[in-house]
Amino acid sequence: PSRKSKEGSSVITAPKEHEKPIDSYVNENKSTVSITVVGASGDLAKKKIFPALFALYYEDCLPEHFTIFGYARSKMTDAELRNMVSKTLTCRIDKRENCGEKMEQFLGRCFYHSGQYDSEENFKELDKKLKDHEAGRISNRLFYLSIPPNIFVSAVKCASLSASSANGWTRVIVEKPFGRDSESSAALTNALKQYLNEDQIFRIDHYLGKELVENLSVLRFSNLIFEPVWSRQYIRNVQFIFSEDFGTEGRGGYFDHYGIIRDIMQNHLLQILALFAMETPVSLDAEDIRNEKVKVLRSMRTLNIDDVVIGQYKSQTIGGVSYQGYTDDKTVPKDSLTPTFAAAALFIDNARWDGVPFLMKAGKALHNRRAEIRVQFRHVPGNLYNRNFGTALDRATNELVIRVQPDEAIYLKINNKVPGLGMRLDRSNLNLLYKARYEKEIPDAYERLLLDAVEGERRLFIRSDELDAAWSLFTPVLKELEEKKIIPEYYPYGSRGPVGAHYLAARYNVKWG
Ligand code: NDP
Ligand code: BG6
Repeated sequence: PSRKSKEGSSVITAPKEHEKPIDSYVNENKSTVSITVVGASGDLAKKKIFPALFALYYEDCLPEHFTIFGYARSKMTDAELRNMVSKTLTCRIDKRENCGEKMEQFLGRCFYHSGQYDSEENFKELDKKLKDHEAGRISNRLFYLSIPPNIFVSAVKCASLSASSANGWTRVIVEKPFGRDSESSAALTNALKQYLNEDQIFRIDHYLGKELVENLSVLRFSNLIFEPVWSRQYIRNVQFIFSEDFGTEGRGGYFDHYGIIRDIMQNHLLQILALFAMETPVSLDAEDIRNEKVKVLRSMRTLNIDDVVIGQYKSQTIGGVSYQGYTDDKTVPKDSLTPTFAAAALFIDNARWDGVPFLMKAGKALHNRRAEIRVQFRHVPGNLYNRNFGTALDRATNELVIRVQPDEAIYLKINNKVPGLGMRLDRSNLNLLYKARYEKEIPDAYERLLLDAVEGERRLFIRSDELDAAWSLFTPVLKELEEKKIIPEYYPYGSRGPVGAHYLAARYNVKWG
C-alpha cells in the first residue's frame, strides 16, 4: 500500500499546497502523477530509475493514476522506449506469478518524448502530451534529472517554464554531483532557485535510501541501550568505510573531474556521519531531522590536508587476469593525479564528540566491496578480565558494526567466556544478519527515494544549507590537493589500498576494522 504524505511542495505557477482545495490531494481519484525521466536514454535511467519505478508499481505503491515519460535527445518511439526499459526490469521482490502481466501493464504506462534539454518549445510539446494523459485531473509532476550536471539548469528552466503543473505540485529530483566545490555548488543552487523553490528541489543522495542507513536513527533513538553510550565518554573512534572491488570502468571521464573525495566522501559518507552523530531531532519531520544534520556538519572542523591520504590504483595481474590501472582508461589523462582512494580524519567540535576521530576511507579497485560503519568503544576501566584474554586479544574492546552492504547486518563484538572449566575469554558477535532475520528482499535505495519524492517526503533529500556545510568542510583541502598537485600513493588493483591510510589511523591510535 502506498504511504501517504503529510504535506507536499509548492509550485511556481500554481497555488501553494496549503492554498489548494482540500480534495485536490485527499481524493486521489481526481489527481494524477506524471513522472518524467529527463535523460531517459542514459545509464542511470536504465539501470536504476525505470527498474525502481517498476518495483514501486509492482508493490502497488504508485498512485492509481500515473504516467511515466522518458525525455532525451535520442530519437525513440514509445515502443522503442518500452523495449529498452523491459530489458532491465526484473521481478526481484518475490516471484509472484503475475509478474509478466504487471510488467506489460507498467510498460503500457511508459511513453517517450524526444527533445533538447534547452528547448522550451520541446518541453511545451511534452507538456501537451502530459496534459493529454492527465485527462483533466489535478496534475502533479515529478521530473527526474538524470543528465550530466552541465545541463541541469537549462533543463530545469525549460521544465519549469514550459511543463510545470498548472494546478498541482511540481518537483524536481536532482542527481549528484551538486557542483565540485563550495563556489560551484552555490552557483548551481542559485541558478536552480531562479526557477524552483527550495521545497521543490529533491537533491538525491542514494546512500540515504539504503536500508541500514535509514535504520541508523531507529537504532539510536528507539533502543535504550545505544543512545547513552553514543558519545566521547564511551566511543573511541568511528569509521566510515566504502570500498569497491572494481575500478572506474566506463565512467573514467566523469570520475576524473571529481575524484573519490567528491564522489563518495563529501556526500555519501558525510551524510551517514551526520545521521550517526546528530543530536536527537525534535520529531521525525524532515525539517527537524535536517536541522540536526546541519548543526552537526557546522560543528565539524574543516578538513586539514595533514589528515588526508590519497591514492590511485595501478594495473595488476591477478590469477593470470590483468586489470587496468586508472590512467590506462582511454577517457582518463595519462598524467591524471585524481585520487581513486582517500582516507581522512574528521572531528566534531561539540560537547558530545570532542576529540573523537571520525575516520573515513573510500576507494575503488580494492580487494572487496563493502560499505560499513564501525564504532569502536573504549576500554573497560580496570577490567578484571584483562589477563584472561589470549595475547592477541589483549584488552579487547567492544565494536559495533553496521554493514550497509553487501549482506546487510548489525553486529556487536562482545567479550565472552569460552565454554569450559577454565576462564578464557574470546570476542564473539551478537549478530543480526538481515538475510537470516527478514525474509523479504530489501528494496533498492532508488525505490524508497522515488516513492518519497512522489509523496513529498523530504527527510532523505539534501537541503541546500546541508550541502553548503558539507562543501565547506572539503573545499579547502580539495583546492590544496589540486593546486599543490599532490601525488597520490599508488596501490595495485585489488589490493587493500595505500599503506598511508594505516599511518593516518595510527596517528589517532586507531586500527581500521
Ligand atoms: P549519461 O552520461 O548516461 O547521460 C544521460 C543522458 O544524458 C544520455 O543518455 C544522453 O541522452 C544525455 N547526455 C549525455 N551527455 C550529454 C551532453 N554532453 N549534453 C547533452 N546531453 C547529454 O549519465 P548517467 O545516466 O550515467 O547519469 C545521469 C546523472 O546521474 C548524472 O548527473 C550522474 O552524475 C548521476 N549519477 C549516475 C550514476 C550512474 O551509476 N550512472 C550514479 C550516481 C549518479 P541523449 O543523448 O539521448 O539526450
Ligand atoms: C555513486 C558513485 O554515487 O555511488 C559511484 O558515483 C559508486 O562511483 C556508486 O560506484 C556506489 O553506489 P552503490 O549503491 O553501488 O554502493
